[in-house]
Amino acid sequence: MDRRTFLKVSALGAGVAIAPMMLLNRGGALAAPINFDAPLSVPPLLEGRIEQHKRVFELSLQNGSSEFVPGYQTPTFGINGAYLGPVIRARKGDRVAISVRNQLGEPSTLHWHGVKLPGDMDGGPHQVIAPGEIWRPEFMIDQPASMQWYHSHAWHRTGEQVFKGLAGLFIIDDDQSDGLGLPNEYGVDDIPLVLQDRSFNRDGSFRYVAGMHQRMAGLLGNVMLVNGTVGPHLHTSKTRTRFRILNGSNARIYNLAFDDQRPFQQIASDGGLLAEPVTLSRIRLAPGERAELVVDIKGGEEVFLQHQPMSLPGGGMMMAMTAGIDAAAFDILRITSSATDVSGLPALPRRLATLPPLPSSPRGVSRQFVLDTQMMVGSTINGKQMNLQRIDHKVVLGEEEVWEFVNRSPMPHPMHIHGVQFRVLSRNGHLPAKNEQGIKDTVLIHSDEVVRILASFDHPASSRFPYMFHCHNLEHEDGGMMGQFTVEHLA
Ligand code: C2O
Ligand code: CU
Ligand code: CU
Repeated sequence: MDRRTFLKVSALGAGVAIAPMMLLNRGGALAAPINFDAPLSVPPLLEGRIEQHKRVFELSLQNGSSEFVPGYQTPTFGINGAYLGPVIRARKGDRVAISVRNQLGEPSTLHWHGVKLPGDMDGGPHQVIAPGEIWRPEFMIDQPASMQWYHSHAWHRTGEQVFKGLAGLFIIDDDQSDGLGLPNEYGVDDIPLVLQDRSFNRDGSFRYVAGMHQRMAGLLGNVMLVNGTVGPHLHTSKTRTRFRILNGSNARIYNLAFDDQRPFQQIASDGGLLAEPVTLSRIRLAPGERAELVVDIKGGEEVFLQHQPMSLPGGGMMMAMTAGIDAAAFDILRITSSATDVSGLPALPRRLATLPPLPSSPRGVSRQFVLDTQMMVGSTINGKQMNLQRIDHKVVLGEEEVWEFVNRSPMPHPMHIHGVQFRVLSRNGHLPAKNEQGIKDTVLIHSDEVVRILASFDHPASSRFPYMFHCHNLEHEDGGMMGQFTVEHLA
C-alpha cells in the first residue's frame, strides 16, 4: 500500500484501527481519501499597528464555513477568519491593546493562555463578551520569547467553542532569542503546527458530543487537523526547520516522532527557550502544552510526523485508551524537502537561555491539589468542582509557592495555571526529564503520580477577576475540574 494514502484512525479513542485510506467516522458517516497532499495551511501573521506607543490588534470572533473534507462544508468558529485565528506577534516590552469583537451570536471569552498579565485582562470565564460587544484588554508583554496561545474560556462552553475553532497562537519575540541564529522566517523555516483531532457528522458538520463518556475521558476525534488542514503536506526549501507545536486538542495526548525515528532537538517548552537544546526522538504533548522542535530534513527526503504508541507509567493499555492516547500510530504531517543547503549547517547554540537552577528545597507556601474522578460527579480537585462564586486559594502577590498535584484518578490530567509560568520541580520525587526543566504553564500528571511545581506569582488578580487553575482536558474543565485563586497584597 502506498504509505502516503495510509492513515489509521481510531474510533473515539478505542484504539481500534479502522479502514485505512479513508477518513471515517464511527459508523462511516463521512468518507474521503486522505492523501497527505493538501498544502499545510499556515495561519496569517498579525503584527498590529503602533498607535500612541501601543501595539494595537483587532480581533473578531465570527462564524464561518470551512471545507476540511472536499465536498463538505463544516460550520466553524474563527477569529478574523473562518477557522482558528491569526498568529498574534508582539515583542517583550510592548504594550499591547487588543479589541475583541464578538460576532458569534453567543457569549464567549478570549483567554491569553500562558501570557503573564493581570487577572482583569486574562479573559477567563468571568470576562464574558456578550454577542455584539467589544472587550478591550491592555497589557505589557513581560516575559521571554515563546509561543503562547489564545482560546475561548466560556463557562461550560470552552470545549465546544474551542472544538469549533476559537483558538489561535500568540508569538512573543525578544532580543535575546533573536541573537541565537535559530530558524525564524515565519512560514518558511519557522512553522507553527496546531494539532487538533476532530469528528464529523454525516452532513460534514463537526460532531461535538459531551455525554457521560466524554465527561470522563474527554472528547477524542478520529480525524487529524493541522492548522485546520486534513492530510497536510509541507514542502520546504530549507534543510533546517523549526516547528512550533501546540497541542490544541480538547483531550488527545500525542507522542510525536518522525516515521524514521530521526532525532530532533527541542529548543523551547510552553514558556520559552530551554537552557540548552535537548536531543530527542519522541516527545509527549498533552492538551495545552507547546514545544518548539528543530529538525533537519535533506533535499529529496520525505518524512512523516506521526503519533506513535507510548506506554504510560502506572497504567497499561486499558489506561492508555481511556486516557486519550492511541495505541496505534497514525500520520499527522507529510514533509518533503528540496533543500540544497545540505552542508555547512551550523550546530545550534549550546546555550539558549539562562534559567535559574531548580532549588532542591524551596521555601514558602506549599499547596496540595488532589485530582480525582468520582462516578456520577466527574473530575474533582480536592474533592470539589468548580464554582464561579468560590475562591479556592488566596496567594500573596510577589510570593513564590510550591504547588503539588497528586493524581488519584485512573487517567492523566494536564494541569494548567493562569497568571504564571512555572518550573517542574519533581515527578514522584525525581527530577523531571531535561526537556521538562524549562518554563511551563501546563504539566501532565499521570495516574498515581505526584508532581511538584514552583511558581512566582507576580501579577495581581482580584476576587472579581480571579485566575483559574484547571485540567486542560477541556471536557474535564467544563465538567468542573477547575478552581479559582486571587493574587493580592497582604491586607
Ligand atoms: Cu488554556 Cu484556562 O486555559
Ligand atoms: Cu491559561
Ligand atoms: Cu483532566
